[in-house]
Amino acid sequence: MKVVAIGGSPRLHGNTNYLIDQALGELVSHGIDTEKIVLNEYKVGPCQAHENCASLTECQQKDDGQWILEKFSQADGVILASPVYFGAISAQMKAFMDRSFFLFRHGMGLNFKCAGLIAIAGRRGADETVEELKKLVRRAEAEVFTLSGNSGAPDVDPKTQTELIEQAKDMAKKMAEILTAANS
Ligand SMILES: Cc1cc2nc3c(=O)[nH]c(=O)nc-3n(C[C@H](O)[C@H](O)[C@H](O)COP(=O)(O)O)c2cc1C
Repeated sequence: MKVVAIGGSPRLHGNTNYLIDQALGELVSHGIDTEKIVLNEYKVGPCQAHENCASLTECQQKDDGQWILEKFSQADGVILASPVYFGAISAQMKAFMDRSFFLFRHGMGLNFKCAGLIAIAGRRGADETVEELKKLVRRAEAEVFTLSGNSGAPDVDPKTQTELIEQAKDMAKKMAEILTAANS
């Protein structure tokens, strides 16, 4: 059983990444394998909308998008997490979302049984952003958990956000229950 987390924040020590780490730590404590992919650390270019996408054997963009999408589609559980930028997901997450169109154009299924969606705003927009993230998982037969919250000040220490941390761990606990039950 493996959970793959895809992070859309460029700030490695920011709130989004910290909450991903908290959730993954909880999953590991339940014996579940995890992998975290921070999109900003890789090259995932925006979709080029090839009209013949469905007939292409592979995406024409030779970047990291393909292998990340493969891990996303094959995972038993996924976590998608994004900061809120202008009331929406980050550009990194949007590029990944658009690139997932290749999977759907090729009838490739999503394997995961559960998904945890995290959106963190400074002050507002997290609920709307988590709704956007849902678009990336709606084709899966998965139970979906959401966490939308506010970090407050830009320089806040993520470790002090006890309520958000609890919510992230709680989300992971519920995901672990689903994955453990599916594996027994
Ligand atoms: C380009 C940009 C746009 C932002 N837009 C919003 C916004 O629309 N609403 C909001 O509440 N916070 C906004 N913020 C603040 C971030 O959502 C907030 O700092 C959040 O904690 C970022 O996540 P991180 O800590 O993982 O980097 C924006 C920040 C940046 C850099």
